[in-house]
Amino acid sequence: MAHDCIIEAQGLVKTYPGADRPAVAGIDLRIKKGAFYGVLGPNGAGKTTTLSICSGLMRPDSGLLDIAGLDIRKDLTEIKGIIGLVPQETAVYPTLTARENLLYFGAMQGLSGDRLKTRVDYCLDVARLTPLADKRVETFSGGLKRRLSLVAGLIHEPKILFLDEPTVGIDPQSRLFIYESLKKMNSSGMTIVYTSHYMEEVETLCAEISIIDRGVIIAEGRVDDMVIRHSGSVIEVRLNAPPPEALRQKVSALPHVSGALFDAKTFTVKSAKPQQTIGDIMRLMEESNLNILSLCHGGLSLEKLFISLTGAKLRE
Ligand SMILES: Nc1ncnc2c1ncn2[C@@H]1O[C@H](COP(=O)(O)OP(=O)(O)OP(=O)(O)O)[C@@H](O)[C@H]1O
Ligand SMILES: [Mg+2]
Repeated sequence: MAHDCIIEAQGLVKTYPGADRPAVAGIDLRIKKGAFYGVLGPNGAGKTTTLSICSGLMRPDSGLLDIAGLDIRKDLTEIKGIIGLVPQETAVYPTLTARENLLYFGAMQGLSGDRLKTRVDYCLDVARLTPLADKRVETFSGGLKRRLSLVAGLIHEPKILFLDEPTVGIDPQSRLFIYESLKKMNSSGMTIVYTSHYMEEVETLCAEISIIDRGVIIAEGRVDDMVIRHSGSVIEVRLNAPPPEALRQKVSALPHVSGALFDAKTFTVKSAKPQQTIGDIMRLMEESNLNILSLCHGGLSLEKLFISLTGAKLRE
């Protein structure tokens, strides 16, 4: 393992029983110690499966996984002690209080006595749940449950924290609160692996990301580099009216165009020769009596990049 990597995965493959294609189809990951790493992908891309494998919840059918110099096949117990997982579905017990939940998760991680009590108090404080510590979780809002679920993953002071879409369905305040807490933990040395489909949060939180689709990584690296590297090939066109089907087909069939995505009056085209494609698009629109309101080439946001690479829109 490269000395600066805390997570190194090679060729991870996982097919669920009865599935016709692998959920994870050969994923390699190299995540540096202390990184705030993002994993992006549309629904069903394989984010949760990848995280489940990397956090030792699920065994891959094949592939190698090295976490902090430990081999997942041999050192699972030790690995579980240094990683924390905040799952996509909040896994807290509704009939227990916040404190009881944390006591339970702490005990499951092998904590006891004063150390357990100190950690529970610390986690309640981090989640700003101290005043609600002895209320049953079923009385909590979605955002409060998320905050509790987040600190439940932290109870044993893991070196690496995996978070699976931790801010879905919560109000902006709790979301901001989660960002700030994670940034703090990251700057004090915790490695964070964060899956999301919110582009803005990944752009602000993570310096490095992987974009996965259909179980494989389709782009990987520093966010800035990636946007620069890929945006040169993408053209976005806004029209005064929705393009008719025949025109959509003509656009998709233009030379050098490898993908086109239409959305009402806007479409995005990926081209190996963007200058030529821009000319072709202008000509097609003129022939069809459609007006171009704007035409952008380059300067892509991560969101546009994601769409152009995966052909998928974001959720919500
Ligand atoms: N327990 C399971 N049994 C069978 N198939 C599964 C199971 N879990 C996931 N899958 C399938 O595996 C693929 C990858 O799923 P996964 O949950 O890893 O994707 P994801 O990127 O986390 O999606 P989402 O954004 O919806 O959470 C999907 O096609 C999904 O239907
Ligand atoms: Mg998922």
